[in-house]
Amino acid sequence: MDRTPALVLFGATGDLSRRMLLPSLFGLDADDLLPPALRIVGTARRSLDASGFRALAGEALSRFAGSEPRTETAQRFLDRLDYVPLDAGDPDHFQHLADRVGGSDTGLSVFLSTAPSLFGPTIAGLAASGLAGNRTRLALEKPLGGDLASSRAINDAVQTAFPEERIFRIDHYLGKETVQNLLALRFGNMLFEPLWTAAAIDHVQITVSETVGLEGRVSYYEDSGALRDMVQNHMLQLLALVAMEPPARYDAVAVRDEKVKVLHSLRPIDRSNATMHSVIGQYTSGAVGGLPVQGYAEELGRASDTETFVALKAHIDNWRWKGVPFYLRTGKRLPTRHSEIIIQFRAVPHSIFGAAGLNPNKLVIRLQPEENIRLLMMAKQPGLDREGVRLREVPLDIGMANAFADTRRRIAYERLLLDLIEGDPTLFVRRDEVEAQWAWIDTIRDGWRAAGMRAKPYGAGTWGPAAAIALTERDGVSWHD
Ligand code: BG6
Repeated sequence: MDRTPALVLFGATGDLSRRMLLPSLFGLDADDLLPPALRIVGTARRSLDASGFRALAGEALSRFAGSEPRTETAQRFLDRLDYVPLDAGDPDHFQHLADRVGGSDTGLSVFLSTAPSLFGPTIAGLAASGLAGNRTRLALEKPLGGDLASSRAINDAVQTAFPEERIFRIDHYLGKETVQNLLALRFGNMLFEPLWTAAAIDHVQITVSETVGLEGRVSYYEDSGALRDMVQNHMLQLLALVAMEPPARYDAVAVRDEKVKVLHSLRPIDRSNATMHSVIGQYTSGAVGGLPVQGYAEELGRASDTETFVALKAHIDNWRWKGVPFYLRTGKRLPTRHSEIIIQFRAVPHSIFGAAGLNPNKLVIRLQPEENIRLLMMAKQPGLDREGVRLREVPLDIGMANAFADTRRRIAYERLLLDLIEGDPTLFVRRDEVEAQWAWIDTIRDGWRAAGMRAKPYGAGTWGPAAAIALTERDGVSWHD
């Protein structure tokens, strides 16, 4: 394990830094997981000095980590912080940063959470000031491009100064404990893997539903839309973890090799089938959680074509998944916030119970807000059954919160920041994965354009446009709500 002695945060005064990165680093520090001498140097355009940045961080801790800035633990963390104001276009500023950081010879972690337009100048500045040495690791936060071409351009620019093994592309879903638990469920148990194929599985559903709307991210979201904001990254990573072959080892090469094979096997949703296999929607006014909310266009202040909901019927063209649809669905302003994967097994080949209804088994993997895994099984209803055995569906429940009650649930970024500092890229996205993801997404968008598809309205607080229901019902499948 090669722990770097300094971490530089670009975009240190921004939203992600205050909500997630600083609280995560604090969480790690409080549990003595950071290298004792690690220095954290924040940088952004804002003109602050170290004490101004510590005050900003202290506020972030009390708001987002529920910690009093005056406790001994918080103080110890704040003492690690330093700050250098920086304009990415000014080479002198990078020299000043390098002087404060003390170079990169002994190792450096850099976390870029800035506008993508600043990636190029920042990489150039790091290289020119000697901060991109061969002991520097670079973490990149999304958006990493808006299509395959722009993503390639970013990757090329980054690779002028950093080889792939020192680039850590973030998909924060991979930092979620529950997402990693998918690997434990599949490959730490004998039970599921023999059944994890088209022979026993009828279809898979992946839903990531959100209740929030635009949240003030007007220009970003308007440019992006649900497909690029959520499917291109988080949902395709979930799909890859569900569908991949067992890797030989739990390491960065083996796991990512298997994921990328799945991504390359995705059947294109293109001009020929986009209208059959995809649905897009945009929320109008309605109510979420009992409160009235505006429609997307009203929040934005003008009409827009951006989709805030997308549902897809995907196929993975390989032996294991032949003929098994993967239904994906995500959207803003839906009735509840949850992320769930449903593995719908096939019916038993022959029922010995005559007319008694037999529901095929279903594995429900709830990733958030609460973490649990439920296997829905048929069981005999207690009774003398003089008119025949009666069965009922009952859940076999693994409540992770109960099983691991004494373990603190960590923010996804705690895992990812620690892995960056310690140099483990397993939970970061490799270039070939990102590019396979974009290639698939670009084809869908091209299909939408060619077919003249427009986002259909859906009321805030509903499960998207009616067409999303029709997408699965046509196959005799209902979404698991
Ligand atoms: C981000 C998206 O990547 O993920 C947001 O940009 C979305 O639009 C968020 O709200 C969801 O993350 P989580 O961890 O709240 O499920």
